[in-house]
Amino acid sequence: MTDLLIRGRVLTFVEKPEGIYDTASYRYFEDGAVLVRGGKVADIGEHTDVSRRAGPAVKVADHRPNLVLPGLIDTHLHFPQTQAIASYGAQLLEWLNTYIFVEEQKFREPGHAQFIAGRFMDELLSNGTTTAVAYCSVHPESVDAYFGAAEARGMLMIGGKVMMDRNAPDALRDTPELGYDETKYLIGKWHGRGRAHYAISPRFAITSTPEQMEMSRALVAEHPECYVQTHLSENKDEIAFATSLYPEAKDYTDIYARYDLLTHKTLLGHCIYLSDREISVLAETGAVGTFCPTSNLFLGSGLFDRDRFDKLGARWSVATDVGAGTSFSMLETMDEAYKVLHLQGQRLSPLNSFYMMTLGNARALELDDRIGSLHVGADADIVVLDSRAKPSMELRMRVAKTLAEELFILQTMGDDRSVAETYVAGKPMRNRASAQAVAAE
Ligand code: GUN
Ligand code: ZN
Repeated sequence: MTDLLIRGRVLTFVEKPEGIYDTASYRYFEDGAVLVRGGKVADIGEHTDVSRRAGPAVKVADHRPNLVLPGLIDTHLHFPQTQAIASYGAQLLEWLNTYIFVEEQKFREPGHAQFIAGRFMDELLSNGTTTAVAYCSVHPESVDAYFGAAEARGMLMIGGKVMMDRNAPDALRDTPELGYDETKYLIGKWHGRGRAHYAISPRFAITSTPEQMEMSRALVAEHPECYVQTHLSENKDEIAFATSLYPEAKDYTDIYARYDLLTHKTLLGHCIYLSDREISVLAETGAVGTFCPTSNLFLGSGLFDRDRFDKLGARWSVATDVGAGTSFSMLETMDEAYKVLHLQGQRLSPLNSFYMMTLGNARALELDDRIGSLHVGADADIVVLDSRAKPSMELRMRVAKTLAEELFILQTMGDDRSVAETYVAGKPMRNRASAQAVAAE
């Protein structure tokens, strides 16, 4: 295979930025290049140097004056909710019962699951997202559809069958034994196949009996190589219901702690109303709280308190949470994250936003050796961003003076139109994705 030289303004983080002037937190090459060989980053630097070292026998993708960054990472969303975005007027529990538990029943049908899985992956790629962590439905067929669609595109994706054995319609309930057996089977089938990673997925304390939590404990103990994903402390009615179902637990977090579900591979959606004690438990166990700003605003859930996570030393990540989240775009997600934190007197610098969408989320997934930054040997998952994609952005960019300012414009005004190209393991996917989506109509 011919090597590919991707030319543009290359930006990749090496550390968490400490403020807006922390130029040591990233590497930036104004006329830069990334050399891709066999799906991996083989070289990165100034274009003149990379091009000289590569020699003449390379294909060139010239993306100047656009920015070239590592592919974006989304740490929490629901693939069966792709057609349930923008479901009107309800908070979490009513929204689940009215819309979501109806929608997810459609995924019993493998044809439907496959159709939506393909469109879901293409939508991620159109938005520059190359890796995501998603819940599938309770049906094993939905997991096959999900990982099948990811494999067909070469994407590094994480996911798993949701387990739920109470407080949901009959058609969406498994049992402790069935949830265990199906999860075990799917881990054997998918985890480590190509770029697939499995996430053991008890939906949340409300939809799992103590028996199912015991089975989840067993799965986590037997498969420490897998992720764990669930929801925690998103909505006040949810917290009251969950803690009433587990009266022996000290608080909501303790429900999961009692079943040994909190590890450094655990991702906990939302984490809005946690006490200091609960955040400290996350810090001790290494479990990650996932900030889902568009979802938390859309469902009227509340505001994620990032500063308390930082103060207590707990890990956090960022995510869209489609379909309560209202956009697949990580740029739009960070725009809302900025506002949610601003409302609480907290600052999110543009450097920090772009760090979080890339290396920060990769670190939360402990995959930073592979994705989230463009270092030699990393997987060549790359996004090309156009800061002038809309007339209003082009006008605003005329007066932008710094890289940080440009990033803030991209985050505040950008969306999928700002994604000029997305590479998965060195293969251009974005334009292919939109062409295929239209062709499939
Ligand atoms: N809590 C349990 N299930 C869900 C879900 O599908 N979406 C959100 N936002 N919260 C949940
Ligand atoms: Zn969720």
